[in-house]
Amino acid sequence: MTDFLRNIMLDPTRPIRVLFVCLGNICRSPAAEGILRDVVERNSASAFWEIDSAGTGHWHIGQLPDPRMRSHARRRGIELTHICRVITTDDYDRFDIIIGMDRTNISELRRLAPSIEGARKVVEMREFFSPSATYDYVPDPYYEGHEGFELVLDLLEDACQNMYDTLTKIHQQ
Ligand code: 4NP
Repeated sequence: MTDFLRNIMLDPTRPIRVLFVCLGNICRSPAAEGILRDVVERNSASAFWEIDSAGTGHWHIGQLPDPRMRSHARRRGIELTHICRVITTDDYDRFDIIIGMDRTNISELRRLAPSIEGARKVVEMREFFSPSATYDYVPDPYYEGHEGFELVLDLLEDACQNMYDTLTKIHQQ
């Protein structure tokens, strides 16, 4: 666990604000958003969370998630309805934690941060993987086949459940 996560302060009087970020904001980060929202809803905790996603790339602004990701997620009971957008400097103030999917996202998120405090909020998704995880990042599925999308959803489901448990405990302290 990074120092930031060990020391993160979450105001118990406000919702936990989580922003997921990937490159295109049409595959991994909107899927993470939908999966964490589903975990939160199943725990009747929607009032305590604000969840969003964004990309570092501009290609798909205004679009729904990739149809392949939507159909794989739907098979797991999750509807992805996010509209693609690019991360803004305001996001670094607004969110408590900004989660990137791979090393490239993390470098880009740190480069784009408007302040040291903002850069400190950037955390890699693998921090929430179970020890048994077979990957140490969330691979870009865009040029992959069905297995690539299933792998991403497996990794995200594991990480989002662990994130829910970890951040809920800190929020309630
Ligand atoms: P994502 O996948 O970062 O998980 O949304 C990608 C989607 C689109 C592109 C790259 C990655 N693209 O180059 O258009």
